[in-house]
Amino acid sequence: MGKLKAVVVVTMISTALSILWRATLHLEDNESFVRCLLDHSHPSHPISSAIYTPKSSSFSSVLESYIRNLRFNESSTPKPFLILTALHESHIQAAVTCGKSHGVQMKIRSGGHDYEGLSYVSTLPFFLLDMFNLRCIDVDIETETAWVQTGATLGEVFYRIAEKSKTHGFPAGVCPTVGVGGHISGAGYGNMMRKYGVSADNVLDALIIDANGRLLDRQSMGEDLFWAIRGGGGASFAVVLAYKIKLVRVPETVTVFQVDRTLEEDATDIVDQWQHVAYNLPQELFIRLMLDVVVKSSGEKTLRASFVSLFLGDSESLLSIMKERFPKLGLSKSDCIETSWVKSVLFWSNIPLETDIQVLLDRTPQTLDYLKRKSDYVREPIPKAGLESLWKKMMELEKPRMYFNPYGGKMAEIAAEEIPFPHRAGNLWKIQYLANWNEAGIEAANRYIDLTRRLHEFMTPFVSKNPRQAFLNYRDADLGSSSHGKASYSEARLNGMKWFMGNFDRLVQIKTEVDPTNFFSYEQSIPLLPHQVHLDDDM
Ligand SMILES: Cc1cc2nc3c(=O)[nH]c(=O)nc-3n(C[C@H](O)[C@H](O)[C@H](O)COP(=O)(O)OP(=O)(O)OC[C@H]3O[C@@H](n4cnc5c(N)ncnc54)[C@H](O)[C@@H]3O)c2cc1C
Ligand SMILES: *[C@@H]1O[C@H](CO)[C@@H](O)[C@H](O)[C@H]1NC(C)=O
Ligand SMILES: *[C@@H]1O[C@H](CO)[C@@H](O)[C@H](O)[C@H]1NC(C)=O
Repeated sequence: MGKLKAVVVVTMISTALSILWRATLHLEDNESFVRCLLDHSHPSHPISSAIYTPKSSSFSSVLESYIRNLRFNESSTPKPFLILTALHESHIQAAVTCGKSHGVQMKIRSGGHDYEGLSYVSTLPFFLLDMFNLRCIDVDIETETAWVQTGATLGEVFYRIAEKSKTHGFPAGVCPTVGVGGHISGAGYGNMMRKYGVSADNVLDALIIDANGRLLDRQSMGEDLFWAIRGGGGASFAVVLAYKIKLVRVPETVTVFQVDRTLEEDATDIVDQWQHVAYNLPQELFIRLMLDVVVKSSGEKTLRASFVSLFLGDSESLLSIMKERFPKLGLSKSDCIETSWVKSVLFWSNIPLETDIQVLLDRTPQTLDYLKRKSDYVREPIPKAGLESLWKKMMELEKPRMYFNPYGGKMAEIAAEEIPFPHRAGNLWKIQYLANWNEAGIEAANRYIDLTRRLHEFMTPFVSKNPRQAFLNYRDADLGSSSHGKASYSEARLNGMKWFMGNFDRLVQIKTEVDPTNFFSYEQSIPLLPHQVHLDDDM
């Protein structure tokens, strides 16, 4: 037998043995894992009622309650061997301690809005730490701050602020069911970012459970780790239990509008003007541009540009700004709706304004779909001929839509290294590519995912390069995943540069320091420094 052959055979045998060994281990592990959790439970906060195994009758319903992308609600979707719906911080401590000692992966889920299901799906044996029970919100108007547990939704945060003040708000995403845990730890943007930055720019303190199971605050975790969990993605570093956020001032009356224009209504010229003014407007004015394909009464397709806006002021001031800076849209008084800031959230979520704001406390979304998302950043306006070719492409592909979210204002003032989220000065707007569908199955999914990729590919000449920047919170599996093996650093660096640019290496340093055994790892987590990775640790 040749030397090479012998090596191959030996490798095959040892791989087979190790798979067998691991398989046996995992079966027993399961029971000893539960025992470990019970052993680490504090008598005054029993953990048993927080444990769900596949044998529990409500296992599936607990798992499904926070699945927000139906692509990951299939029978073929890998399931956790256990769900822990933590009721107390000591339960998180037990989860970290036992997860580590048993060498199993832990997925952390707050609101479950991860576009690729990375908070509740894995190809490795894993258990799910579900945070939805930990959702206290304590608003203090006097200090203009709030402590918010990560299992809360954004809608709950907005509601609790509005309950106490008509002139305070928080800059975050407008979808009320998004969870605080993933949103803030991955930066989080919304329609006040041109005035106040991203959510993570407005964090003052945090409580975490670290890789050693310790409960730490800003002071005890130190400034490096506190920096990392404001945009670096929490799940690479710790379980974030709560954030202390800084509330921002909003006027008692704000103005919203949505105006739609098709190609026949000069959409091209209007979009062209939007490109040159949206990032430059007063910080109080945010105008999102949404592009999709619609069918005219004649049966022909056309492109529709929808402009949806929040202005932190009254309609009169808005109209005078628009007349001077963005006249091509032709905004009129009758397009404008004056309302309160908290009701503007309803408007942006397509909820009728007459609805009671209690609707913000609903934890289930109005609709659930199959989803694919991708992102890009634009650093210079697209030439008109480029826009025209884009309309043609969109009409050919039909399904994928695009949102353009303007930057500038405060976003351009904050330094790129202030927090891990680096997309600041020089970025005129961010593109979100969206496909939503409601046909089950892998074929439909592959078709729509492919269309979305093709639109993204088409945009290559018009978007940022070297690296082609992307937004971490628009989770996109196409950007790759790390095997956490020997090559993990170089693999992860490729996509890490897109999300974090010059901040990537600092994140790797901090990760290596605070979690040297890489317990907090998932498909797109921050890797350890190369010299820290041993083949034996390969999960
Ligand atoms: C309908 C919809 C609308 C959206 N709108 C916006 C928007 O307007 N602006 C915007 O910026 N983004 C938006 N997003 C994206 C959203 O911000 C991210 O998906 C975010 O990560 C969701 O947070 P979550 O807690 O719901 O997610 P989860 O799926 O629970 O978690 C997402 C990631 O964060 C980790 N994580 C969650 N909780 C914790 C924790 N407590 N500690 C450590 N790690 C944790 C998870 O492990 C996972 O890696 C939207 C998503 C959807 C589905
Ligand atoms: C998710 O899947 C389960 C099991 O097939 C099903 O009962 C449930 O209705 C699905 N959820 C949604 C929102 O479609
Ligand atoms: C461990 O988990 C597997 C997979 O969910 C399950 O089938 C098995 O019964 C569990 N074993 C024990 C010992 O709990």
